[in-house]
Amino acid sequence: MDGNGRWAKQRGLPRIAGHRRGVEAVRTATYAARDLGVSMLTLYAFSVENWQRPKTEVGALMRLLELYLKNELATFVRDGVRLRTIGRTGELPEGVQKHLRTAVEATKHLTGYTLVLALNYGSRTEVTDAARAYALAVAAGQENPQTSSWTTFSRYLSTAGLPDPDLVIRTSGETRVSNFLLLQAAYAEFVFTPVLWPDFTKPDLAAALAEYARRERRFGLTSDQLRPPIGKAAAN
Ligand code: IPE
Ligand code: MG
Repeated sequence: MDGNGRWAKQRGLPRIAGHRRGVEAVRTATYAARDLGVSMLTLYAFSVENWQRPKTEVGALMRLLELYLKNELATFVRDGVRLRTIGRTGELPEGVQKHLRTAVEATKHLTGYTLVLALNYGSRTEVTDAARAYALAVAAGQENPQTSSWTTFSRYLSTAGLPDPDLVIRTSGETRVSNFLLLQAAYAEFVFTPVLWPDFTKPDLAAALAEYARRERRFGLTSDQLRPPIGKAAAN
């Protein structure tokens, strides 16, 4: 979700005004995705690198996050939205952690739709943490490194139990991955849009999904393997 700052700057407003509108866009996107048939949406709300922003901006973002969690909980429960997080949430302010715990616990039984918030998330941190946890499990005799595989190792990632993303959308015209789900997005399709996050609405999401639907996902195979030419298929 990129472009909050530029959205504000274009209007001569402080950056935090852009973040406030960004929260509105989160509400819109959460329900737009569900209405369009998406079963899981992950929002990269705060990266491990974002702590290096000015203290006032970080503080404002944390307050907004806390307020958002407090305000949304009843709606999540009413609308069947399961909330999950990825990232080092243990390093977030205590107030945010408290609301996160409450919201995750209160929605964990819901099955229709999952909203994942990436908070204090970064792929390199995630992989480093997973490697440490895996090594400790090996030392404790709980894992056998001789038979390790992606399936066994990926259980130590923050995304354990979540499916890989099919589509990654980046807003605001940037064409970078910025440490987001680097391993999980190994076969994801990417859509880059110039729309700034506060302006990102349901039609923008629908357009990204339409673009996704036009892609051919080959997962390393050839086109013919995926869709055998008619004649060949008949001969087989
Ligand atoms: C939102 O957009 C991203 C968050 C960390 C909340 P930015 O704050 O990165 O907006 P720009 O890039 O300055 O426009
Ligand atoms: Mg940015």
